[in-house]
Amino acid sequence: MKTYSLLTLALMGVFVSCRQETGSDTEMKQKVDSLLSVMTLEEKAGQLTLFTSGWDVTGPVMREEYRQDIASGRCGNLLNAHGVSYNRELQKLAVEESRLGIPLLFGYDVIHGFKTIFPIPLAEACSWDTALVRKTAALSAREAAAAGLNWTFNPMVDLCRDPRWGRIAEGSGEDPLLGSMMAAARVKGYQGTDLSDPFTLAACVKHFAAYGAPEGGRDYNTVDMSERVLREIYLPPYKAAVDAGVASLMTSFNELDGIPATGNRFLLTEILREEWGFEGMVVTDYTSINEMIPHGYARNLKHAGELALSAGVDMDMVGAVFYNHLEESLEEGKITEEMINRSVRRVLEMKYKLGLFDDPFRYLDEEREDSILFAPGLMEHALESARKSIVLLENKPFGGKPVLPLPENLNRIALIGPLAHSRIDMLGTWHASGDTTKVVTLKEGLENQFPNTQILHARGCSVNGTDRSGFGDALSAAMRSDVVVVAVGEYFMQSGEAASRAMPVIPGIQEELVDMLLNTGKPVVVVVMAGRPLILTELAAKTPALVYAWHLGTRAGDAIADILSGEYNPSGKLVVSFPWSAGQIPVYYNHKNTGRPMHPLQKYTSKYLDIPNNPRYPFGYGLSYTTFEYSGLQLSDTLMTMNGSLKVSVQVKNTGEYAGEETVQLYVRDLVGSVTRPVKELKGFRKVWLEPGEETTVTFTLSPDDLKFYTVDMQFAAEPGEFKVFAGGSSVDVLEAGFTLK
Ligand code: BGC
Repeated sequence: MKTYSLLTLALMGVFVSCRQETGSDTEMKQKVDSLLSVMTLEEKAGQLTLFTSGWDVTGPVMREEYRQDIASGRCGNLLNAHGVSYNRELQKLAVEESRLGIPLLFGYDVIHGFKTIFPIPLAEACSWDTALVRKTAALSAREAAAAGLNWTFNPMVDLCRDPRWGRIAEGSGEDPLLGSMMAAARVKGYQGTDLSDPFTLAACVKHFAAYGAPEGGRDYNTVDMSERVLREIYLPPYKAAVDAGVASLMTSFNELDGIPATGNRFLLTEILREEWGFEGMVVTDYTSINEMIPHGYARNLKHAGELALSAGVDMDMVGAVFYNHLEESLEEGKITEEMINRSVRRVLEMKYKLGLFDDPFRYLDEEREDSILFAPGLMEHALESARKSIVLLENKPFGGKPVLPLPENLNRIALIGPLAHSRIDMLGTWHASGDTTKVVTLKEGLENQFPNTQILHARGCSVNGTDRSGFGDALSAAMRSDVVVVAVGEYFMQSGEAASRAMPVIPGIQEELVDMLLNTGKPVVVVVMAGRPLILTELAAKTPALVYAWHLGTRAGDAIADILSGEYNPSGKLVVSFPWSAGQIPVYYNHKNTGRPMHPLQKYTSKYLDIPNNPRYPFGYGLSYTTFEYSGLQLSDTLMTMNGSLKVSVQVKNTGEYAGEETVQLYVRDLVGSVTRPVKELKGFRKVWLEPGEETTVTFTLSPDDLKFYTVDMQFAAEPGEFKVFAGGSSVDVLEAGFTLK
């Protein structure tokens, strides 16, 4: 007869409790305590280890033998593994083979969709529509969770003022308020109201912190900024994600004020845990513990692991540092068992909340996988989101009236350009398992939208090359057509991680192609597809119609065709300033004033000799086929008390011929502070739909909370004094009023 040791009995107890229903915090604590009490150090290190399966890797793979490690309890989490049958096989290894049967977490970069791809996050933020963004996240979660995933490495909320940085594509632009609202919307969308719901994912806000401000816009590069700028501009979106209940957070690759973020106690413990009260789990970025060696902060891997764990990291992504060195560090007394237990607890709690102890196969249902991928609701939402992401930059009169929308009765449209019919490029960066076969290109979109018009397609040239042999065909198609639509820009790998560009211009000879088409004298519509703001200065001056379409995802072509035909009236507004030239970067709307503000006629003022100070296209800008007129900006009072508030109202009228949506924006300037304040700061916005001739009053409430900043004493407070208020359709096109805070 078999005899049981005490340990085995304890383990059996563990197994029993593994299968209990998810429940209250007390039950979770009991469950985690019971596991912790029997785990070996190796098993604990295993829970703090995240290895990658072979797909989608973005760096070195430190251990290939993840299956073996899962079965032996030495790897508790996996990224880049998806698909129910594959993940089921791996989950079985964890649950059935490993000693304690602790289920695996499956993480993946579901950034803007899983199979159905939505617009890149930067584009979607241009909708200024948090409900839309939340729904995108919820639908992405549904599709990804059906493929066996339970954790997404998103939202990426790194605020960015520098279009050279390729990862600007993944964020929500340059504004802390808008960025915070988008961050919260995405977290709520992914996570829903209950993490154990198998249609949701645990979110992971990243990259903490200030990863979007690398010197020179070069990815992974040094970040250095004042604590005030850090707290006021860069941190709010991460904080908003934490306040929205994000389950986990990822550290960033960069150093900040000399300390790599992954070993940064100030960020990971003082701010994140002590100030913000974050109770979730912290994972590193890909081998970012190991990278503290080349940073010049750690002597060796063991030291790097000690720095990371002590700073507040819980889980090591891919680096195998905790896997290899935790035990030795503990023996040497460099770290304590409490520190390890604290981190293991956070990982196990996350698994518990996901319902994995209740049922490790909760996310692994073949039938569900088949029924959800590309479900109709997803494709419809992909179209809606793509339409709302497009920003109309120019629409000048041509032959007496604006080029867009295109008339219905055209005989021929020449569709030119390397991006007119390229499926993969529509998906943009980080397109997960996005299915290129489902992508609708602009060519197909136009064919659907203009069934009675002949679409003459010619590629013209490639995105990056210098081969002009396709120019002839392009010219001939243009000459035979009523209108020329030309799709140019960046290919999908030209933005995203490790895709910085010193010169963020339209690559290759594409502008030359556009010039040739403009010279035909035909009306030309330029559609720019890109993952970042590009420098459009010359192009904008000569092009009658300019549509900024970003990388819009699976339904890109339909969405652009809807805009060109007028089926949808463009409503997107920029969430990032477009520079005049690369030398102007960083350029952003909420800058300071200087002691010598620009004066065109005075030499010794702050300006360039060769370009204006203003961006080419400002934050908040975007045209519609109709026009909106603002009037009657009014404040309910000219005085605000420290515990009061006031109302700001403005009238908006649709003065054009099309029904359309406008984003009414509210900005404030604090005229004098104990430290200087920006010339404008976004404090609110409202989207309104107006029929032609219709007028509405939009009212905002402002309170001292909206006026807080980090004062000279680093207090987050509002200071009495004079304020200006601005309301309008962009950060520059505004009406102005003022009040005093007492
Ligand atoms: C990126 C992260 C990503 C991770 C896992 C890293 O290279 O910086 O954003 O989540 O890879 O794919």
